[in-house]
Amino acid sequence: MICLGIEGTAHTIGAGCVRDTHGHCEVLSNCMNTYSPAHGGIHPREAANHHATHLAELIHQAVQKADIPYTDIDLVAFSQGPGLGPCLRTAATAARALSLSLSVPLIGVNHCVAHLEIGRGTIPVCTDPVLLYVSGANTQVIAFAEGKYRVFGETLDIGIGNCLDKFGRMLDLGFPCGPKIESFAKQGDRYLPLPYSIKGMDMAFSGLLTAAEAYYRKKESLANICYSLQETTFAMLTEVTERAMAHTEKTQVLLGGGVASNTRLRDMVSTMAKARGASLFVPTKDLCVDNGAMIAWLGLIMHASGTRMPLEQSSINQRFRTDMVEVTWR
Ligand code: ATP
Ligand code: FE2
Repeated sequence: MICLGIEGTAHTIGAGCVRDTHGHCEVLSNCMNTYSPAHGGIHPREAANHHATHLAELIHQAVQKADIPYTDIDLVAFSQGPGLGPCLRTAATAARALSLSLSVPLIGVNHCVAHLEIGRGTIPVCTDPVLLYVSGANTQVIAFAEGKYRVFGETLDIGIGNCLDKFGRMLDLGFPCGPKIESFAKQGDRYLPLPYSIKGMDMAFSGLLTAAEAYYRKKESLANICYSLQETTFAMLTEVTERAMAHTEKTQVLLGGGVASNTRLRDMVSTMAKARGASLFVPTKDLCVDNGAMIAWLGLIMHASGTRMPLEQSSINQRFRTDMVEVTWR
């Protein structure tokens, strides 16, 4: 079976094709285009306009790269939520139109669960991980427990990527700022104390961001601020992930989201995993960021396990929570 998936929750619009090969995910194509605002943060309507401009071409590219005729597509999947309303609506409208014109079923999927399932699907030994999902808007620690994907810990305010981007925006670094902060941090050698805020299993980043901005105004070295920002936030993420692993007794940890590209974060999680005798998995970069292939794969396994979505149930859900998903495939 071949599924074409369309991702469109936030900055990135993507289309990808996947095939089920003996229960594993074979990525046939994964095409994307990211909206990058000239100034400030993301404007939902402008992002949606960007997506509408590029989506038809991306779908075409995804089918061409997969080297299949349109008639080989058996299913169309789309990101139903969570995300920004105008962006979600653009992706969903295109998916509905494509499914109708190809006369194939349509399925809407949860974006956060897709980040986890693409890891399981493409890394065969990664069967039951705790996912540390770290992107711009999302920061969640997710694992399968008692029949559902549950959120064991998450941000109480902004996502970790957003925290890095906001700090970088003050310096006019241009979006995305994470990679630039990572390279400044490598030159840092002195830790500047920042609030370490974990409440129960949840994290908060905005107080820490304000404190980092204050250091910058006090003319502290940028390298040391970036270093301290990474050390503090990544230690928080690693701690919550470790506690979720201890609680669920899982021995695998998976990274997902754009911030998973960061080598310091990988090192910290890897050290933690080694100390517990656990394994760390990181999908390739194009499968870590928001992408159509992960949406296609989750759609495919949901459909194969019997989930069906009539057109009238395909409305988007901006607040689609991870634990609202009925898991039929595990
Ligand atoms: P979502 O809708 O899932 O929140 P998103 O639009 O934020 O997704 P992603 O591509 O998953 O998209 O993540 C982008 C984020 O990743 C940005 O905040 C960016 O700064 C951050 N990022 C990218 N590379 C790095 C890096 N090397 N270190 C730290 N952060 C990074
Ligand atoms: Fe994402």
